[in-house]
Amino acid sequence: MSETTAPAIAPAIDWWTMLTDPDYLANPHPDLKRIREMGPVHLDAPSGIYFVLGHEAFNAMVRAPEMGRDTRAWTNGWSRPESKARDPLSFELFSEFQRQMVNADQPDHRRMRDVYEKAFRPAEIPSLRPMIEAEARKLADELPEGEPVDFMTSFANHLPLRVVRNLFRISPDMDPALARWNAALVKIGDIMMSQEQKREALEALRAYKAFLREHLEAERGNGENRLIALALEALDDGTMDEDETLNNLKGLVSGNETTVNVLGNGLLTLIDNPSEFERLRANPDLMRTAIEEMMRYEPAINFILRVALKDFELNGMTLPAGSLALGLICAINRDPARFADAETFDVSRRPNAQVIFGGGPHVCIGAALARLEVDVALTVLMERFSRIELAGDPVWWTDRTNQRGLESLPVRLWR
Ligand code: HEM
Repeated sequence: MSETTAPAIAPAIDWWTMLTDPDYLANPHPDLKRIREMGPVHLDAPSGIYFVLGHEAFNAMVRAPEMGRDTRAWTNGWSRPESKARDPLSFELFSEFQRQMVNADQPDHRRMRDVYEKAFRPAEIPSLRPMIEAEARKLADELPEGEPVDFMTSFANHLPLRVVRNLFRISPDMDPALARWNAALVKIGDIMMSQEQKREALEALRAYKAFLREHLEAERGNGENRLIALALEALDDGTMDEDETLNNLKGLVSGNETTVNVLGNGLLTLIDNPSEFERLRANPDLMRTAIEEMMRYEPAINFILRVALKDFELNGMTLPAGSLALGLICAINRDPARFADAETFDVSRRPNAQVIFGGGPHVCIGAALARLEVDVALTVLMERFSRIELAGDPVWWTDRTNQRGLESLPVRLWR
């Protein structure tokens, strides 16, 4: 192992206090700007964790074969056999969660991703527009006119869930259970989970997998259910075992949670920037660039992790094998070295190399689907309502350290 180069700056940043502070979680941008100005990569010496705030460094990290995604390679990783005695519940939870593409390095990652990738290619996704439009219209029909309504609980929380369960031909009766399980599982990405949250997540994960096991068998022979057919084919021919099949399906079904955040964060950003909102209304052709800009400006996630499988040189520092690095997405998406006028929200920004879908081999498989959902939702809302305004203070989730989204967004809408 080579020597770790001392960080250029060793600022006294209390990372863990900051990253879990409700004020930071509601608005991380000022702190991240200040820290990014000190350098794109920082080491938190007490924990040995590296923080990446620069766009170039982040892209290098997520594409590097030396930087993996399997947290068992992290010296302090939760699902490492050595960690079992220290925290048996975490070990159990992360072992149950472990075997899926997002947690795998090559060649296992490719083996699993290949099973589903064909169904999520950007060319395949536009055919889903009528189904997504039908769901968005149903939800928009129920929004009251001129009265305060919470956009999150009335619209945003429902659309991505309905889309994904239509895709997998899951019954609408399952909506409450799926929503409950997703809410418990969202915590798995958090920096600090209480023992109670770990127990809830473990129960939800097991219930999810039991449901998906039954659903797979019930849908066997139904050629219309393409995603389930792909899963069954891979299970039957031995490409994936049952645990991998169920964990990957769970990942695809629950992947919709982040789209909820994009809908809320995006609408809030538009309302907060009325002249840009008007520009978009007047020029619907800007929808594509506007969506990328909404995702850049108020990202739906806080961080993306990587583990050094071998020593890795990043920005003049050596990340030793076994260390964890976290890319801080809000900082990366406003890096002035990559984005001109990074603090300005511009619906026509192009190019826009925002990174909320990550990059490299693990880049989000559902990105095209998520983009289409946001496109349809905003188009339907703008067609139905000529004016959308805030009707109270938006509330950011401050007990979720990885997902970045709104608990409530009170709005008033006029036809
Ligand atoms: C705007 C919404 C979404 C965001 C911000 C998002 C974000 C991400 C990110 C950052 C990654 C890469 C993780 C890493 O590199 O460590 C990822 C991977 C993944 N996402 Fe998404 N996602 C979204 C929507 C979806 C949807 C709708 C689905 C399901 C269809 C989905 C399923 C997945 C899966 C299965 C992976 C693992 C891919 C792999 O490891 O190869 N995501 N997502």
